[in-house]
Amino acid sequence: MAEERKTLKLPAGYPFAGQVLEEMLSQEAISKRVKELAAEISSRYEGKIPIIIGVLNGSFLFMADLVRNLTIDFEVDFIKISSYGSSTTSSGTVRLLKDISADITGRDVIVVEDIVDTGLSLSFLKHRLENAGPESVAFVTCLYKPEIARHDFPIDFIAFSIENRYVVGYGLDLDQKLRGLPSIYAFKEGEPDNG
Ligand code: IMP
Repeated sequence: MAEERKTLKLPAGYPFAGQVLEEMLSQEAISKRVKELAAEISSRYEGKIPIIIGVLNGSFLFMADLVRNLTIDFEVDFIKISSYGSSTTSSGTVRLLKDISADITGRDVIVVEDIVDTGLSLSFLKHRLENAGPESVAFVTCLYKPEIARHDFPIDFIAFSIENRYVVGYGLDLDQKLRGLPSIYAFKEGEPDNG
């Protein structure tokens, strides 16, 4: 018998109120995969002390879970950028809202993203961080949308490749709401229905 998916109906006052979201990735699936990624990263950076840079706001839960499972020493910093214009569509330009404070010259940098959607933020970050002369820059993302992501360099660590649907929870928002959901929910098909 097919397992019944958990659903979530958006309450009044939320964008797209009344629409039903379904769970795409459970807490258990996320936790298992985060542990695997942490093991891979720990082994790749054995003997090094990378600076792990979280991309605010969406990566905060993923980053917290990831670093708690690392077995190497590391430092953390954060950068805040914005690329989303309206609630669920990319504005097409990236703005820097808060820069890192660490000096990354000669350091191994690991950038932690919540999701790679168009890939615009990723390319912006790569260019910006590489200008500061680090030893290396690697990217880890919780979610990746292969159908629409465009970038001309590889992403080092991807937790989950997903279909092109707008997702919320586990740090990801809908107009700043729903970031605290412990699992990841998706709008049923493609973009949310504006009708
Ligand atoms: P980009 O289009 O790859 O530049 O995505 C930039 C940012 O948009 C991500 O880091 C997220 O914060 C946000 N974003 C993209 N897709 C989604 C989604 O499906 N749900 C929630 N936020 C998203």
